[in-house]
Amino acid sequence: MTSYKDLGLVNTKEMFAKAIKGGYAIPAYNFNNMEQMQAIIQACVETKSPVILQVSAGARKYANKNLLKNMAKGAVEYAHELGCDIPIVLHLDHGDSLELCVDCIESGFSSVMIDGSHLPYDENVALTKKVCEYAHKHGVTVEGELGVLAGVEDDVSSEVSHYTKPEEVQDFVSKTGVDSLAISIGTSHGRQKFKPEQCTKNADGVLIPPPLAFDILAEIEKKLPGFPIVLHGSSSVPVEYVKEIEQYGGKLSDSVGIPEEQLRKAAKSAVCKINIDSDGRLAMTAAIRKVLSEKPDEFDPRKYLGPARDELKKLYMHKNTNVLGSAGQA
Ligand code: G3H
Ligand code: 13P
Ligand code: ZN
Repeated sequence: MTSYKDLGLVNTKEMFAKAIKGGYAIPAYNFNNMEQMQAIIQACVETKSPVILQVSAGARKYANKNLLKNMAKGAVEYAHELGCDIPIVLHLDHGDSLELCVDCIESGFSSVMIDGSHLPYDENVALTKKVCEYAHKHGVTVEGELGVLAGVEDDVSSEVSHYTKPEEVQDFVSKTGVDSLAISIGTSHGRQKFKPEQCTKNADGVLIPPPLAFDILAEIEKKLPGFPIVLHGSSSVPVEYVKEIEQYGGKLSDSVGIPEEQLRKAAKSAVCKINIDSDGRLAMTAAIRKVLSEKPDEFDPRKYLGPARDELKKLYMHKNTNVLGSAGQA
């Protein structure tokens, strides 16, 4: 058993309390390789932002759990070397079983998500409670989820009916003991968060999505005053990256994300963790495609992964400073 404390990591408790009080959100950036981890740490050290290094079950399989543990330890040492001991959390994203959560806790994670949102309510409560009981014995914080994030395949009416029900949140939090709650108010995973027919178009032909359900967020906040709320599916899907990827041979039709102003507004509320994965994927892919297309004879991975890392760092610095408001809070 490796405790997260031995790796120099922290759990989310104090981080979230400060974020709610301060009206900002902590960035939760997904990673699965070295360049992504370097970019996250460089950006968060330079902007003096606390950070959540987020690992999905798939990413854990891809990267290897022992390597990941040591990468997290390395991230703490790297931040120190760069000159700022920012608080760093290692978090399991969308854990789907008690066994996976236990395995992560035993290999140095300081926070886990148990995503029982697809289960019937009582089963979600029972599973989440079990994870909390185990995690809390080890000082690890737990994120639960109520409400299902829409997928692009769902029809519009089922998206609405999957929003978090404010009348359930108090009962869920008190029965499970979760430390934070992911909710569904209109965000979704990936680069196609809405169907084109749900959007309007601006003068440049860019798709403008419908607003998030801030009324539901406000009701949830009323039911759980001061309780940490999490937003998944919060990439903005920058049109510049989509255009650049398409300019260099990619095909990403009907891409649409969550506008930055809406995330800024959410970050000022009880939303204190904002999950971003797709935007990083887009930034890396755009940079790599550009290099490979402009320099067809290039075959040194450092020559395209280096620019991808730089672009990622730029993106994360922008998010911390202009969207989440976490810059300067470490
Ligand atoms: O919420 C999902 C994250 O974007 C992780 O995606 O399962 O492809 O690693 P993944
Ligand atoms: P995006 O696909 O919008 O980046 O969401 C990521 C996420 O919620 C990870 O849990
Ligand atoms: Zn998610």
